[in-house]
Amino acid sequence: MKMIHLTDTHLTQPGQPLYGSFPAERLRACVASINAEHADADLCVITGDLAHAGEPEAYAQFADIIAELKVPVQLVVGNHDHRGRLGAQFPSLQYDENGFVQSVIHNSSGSFIFMDSVKEGTHAGAYCEKRQQWLAEKLAQASGDVYLFMHHAPFKTGIKPMDKIGLDIQDAAKLQSLLHSHGRVKHLFFGHYHRPMHGSWSGIGFSTLRGLNHQVVLDFQEEDHYLFNHEPPAYAIVFIDDDNVIVHNHDFLDPSTPFNASTEPEWNA
Ligand SMILES: [Fe+2]
Repeated sequence: MKMIHLTDTHLTQPGQPLYGSFPAERLRACVASINAEHADADLCVITGDLAHAGEPEAYAQFADIIAELKVPVQLVVGNHDHRGRLGAQFPSLQYDENGFVQSVIHNSSGSFIFMDSVKEGTHAGAYCEKRQQWLAEKLAQASGDVYLFMHHAPFKTGIKPMDKIGLDIQDAAKLQSLLHSHGRVKHLFFGHYHRPMHGSWSGIGFSTLRGLNHQVVLDFQEEDHYLFNHEPPAYAIVFIDDDNVIVHNHDFLDPSTPFNASTEPEWNA
C-alpha cells in the first residue's frame, strides 16, 4: 500500500496570510505535487489543524483545493479545528456516537483508525473515557495490523512548549495500556508538532512531519515561547506491507535540480 501523510495545513480565510505565508497557496502546491508524482497512492491522510481559526470560509477554501486531489482523502481534526464547521464542508465526515470525528477503514493492509484528540477550549489534547471505549471496540473488531492516526502525540517529545499542549498525560497512559493489550498496533501517525520526528513509543513506531505553512524551531531549551520558523513544507510518502512501514519525507518545494552522480568526475575518486 502507498499512502500520503500530510498535516497542519492551517488554512485561513481567502487571501489572508498567516505568519507571512499563504496557507492556501501551499496546499495548492502540495496537491499539485501529489497529483504529479504520487497520484497512484491509495490514501492521503491529513492529521489535523486543517484550518487555523476554524472559519467556514477557510474550510470552504480547503474543500475546494482538496477536491482537486486525485488520491482519496481522510481527515483528522486538530486543536485549531472546529468539528461542526469542518463537517459542513465535508458531508461524508464521519462522527462517532458521541460526536467525535472518529472512523475506521479496513483494507488489505489492515485496519486504519482515525482518532479525535481535540480537547475543547484548549490547544492541549485529550482522549477521554468515551473515546477510549470507542477505540477499544474498534480494536476488538480490527483485522490484521492496526495503524493509528491522531493530531496530538501521547508522549513527551522534548520540544517543551509543544509538550505543554500535548495529550493529557493520564489519557496517554490509558491509551498506551489499551494499545498494548491489543498487540498489533504497528504505527502511529500524528501532526501538531510542525517538525519531523520518528521513533517508537513503547514499541509502537511513530512519525510526524513539518506542516505546510509554518514550522516549530528545533529547540530543546525554550520552556514557554512558541518559536516558529519557515523551514520548507513537506508531505510524506509511506509504503506499508506485511513486514514494513517505510516513511519518506518530501520537501516538495525544494528547488534542487537532480544530477547523475555516476557521470560526475568525483564519482570514481
Ligand atoms: Fe498546527
